Amino acid sequence: MTHNTTFDPTGAAFTADRFTVYRALRDENPVARTVINDEETYVLTRYADVSRTFKTPRARVQPVAGEFPKKIGDGPASQFYRFSLPELDPPTHTRLRKLASSAFSTRAVASMRGWVEQIITAGIDRLAETDTDYDFVAEFATRVPAEIACRLLHAPMADAHTVLEQMPALNGVLGHGEISAETLAAADKSAQFYIDYIGDIVDTLRGTLSSDDAVGALLEAEEDGSKLTRTELIITLVGFFVASYHTTMVAMTNAVYALASHRDQLGKLATNPELAPKTWEEVLRYLSPVHFVQRYAGEDMDFSGHTVPADAQMLLAISAANRDDRFFADPDRFDIERDNSRQLAFAAGGHFCLGAPLSRIEGGIFLRQLGQRLPDIRLAHEPEWGTNFTFPSIGSLLVHNGRVQGA
Ligand code: HEM
Repeated sequence: MTHNTTFDPTGAAFTADRFTVYRALRDENPVARTVINDEETYVLTRYADVSRTFKTPRARVQPVAGEFPKKIGDGPASQFYRFSLPELDPPTHTRLRKLASSAFSTRAVASMRGWVEQIITAGIDRLAETDTDYDFVAEFATRVPAEIACRLLHAPMADAHTVLEQMPALNGVLGHGEISAETLAAADKSAQFYIDYIGDIVDTLRGTLSSDDAVGALLEAEEDGSKLTRTELIITLVGFFVASYHTTMVAMTNAVYALASHRDQLGKLATNPELAPKTWEEVLRYLSPVHFVQRYAGEDMDFSGHTVPADAQMLLAISAANRDDRFFADPDRFDIERDNSRQLAFAAGGHFCLGAPLSRIEGGIFLRQLGQRLPDIRLAHEPEWGTNFTFPSIGSLLVHNGRVQGA
């Protein structure tokens, strides 16, 4: 099959400097074409087009309405397609999302603040004691989000490593890549591990938690019998772990990178801790952890004067939309005081990040403490970015604390 491609995600220009390529696409080629899994794919980069697609019921996440891809087989990993919120369209998505939302009710989120603060404070304490160069990713950004995800699920912290180790294999089928027989076998093994592991945890917790607890709220929905099945409950909880860990790790790393390389902004945060929540949104806008999400056109759809045909695959370039100067003034400037409340890093519409309230608590606490306790944190040298297409991230961020407050 020949395809008319106008965007090469494997090209040297994109690997070297994504944001320059995103700008060129927004300006000259806002509905670019590429090939993903041998499928012609339309790449949307303008804020208005990405935002509209998130919000319209005319775009769906399932490649064929009401069906799941045959490539996922019918083993345990396929269950993660059938019951994971990001993989589902209405009406199943609407039903499960309503039930899963009880885990992030106002009361449940309020009850998270105390333990999130404890975990982050302990993590910052460890950093503040360090007087040599250290890798922020290894020392904080991989540990703290894992501890938070474990606590959310009531999994022992000691299991964090084992739980995380299984994740890449499962992501192998949940991502956009080709799936080989080996990839699928590894994903099935990993899915079965999660089903057994989380299944044991919820069975132990049954009857011990109130509905102010995220797992307690979901258990209530499951015990009702008519609402959430045991498999759906387990997959929803695994979904929280999967959706929260990597995104939060990358966001925290990006926050330190952005602040340490914009010292005037770090200074503002240190002087005015009330800016912490806004700083988190600005980090998410400026360096969005998730660069692309996938959708399918439910019918012919028009964007910036171009038509995407019905059933075509689309990639919504969140990180490009978040730098669109048609929407954000001077978008390549990292400015923690700007109005960034409509940034798209958590998506929008029906699949808007369910964990955003938790992430905002984490980000606010983390940045307030960073500004107060490590106000002089510095890059030891410029880090290297990984080349993962959807989630490019810094693998190692060498920093030192400079002057430490209250040490
Ligand atoms: C900075 C951190 C985070 C970022 C950047 C982020 C980003 C996103 C994005 C872009 C989506 C939409 C995906 C799509 O439309 O295909 C999403 C969905 C989701 N996120 Fe997050 N997320 C973060 C943290 C979290 C946390 C902490 C949790 C839970 C503990 C979480 C749970 C979820 C869930 C369950 C969904 C699926 C919602 C649905 O499909 O209805 N996320 N997130």
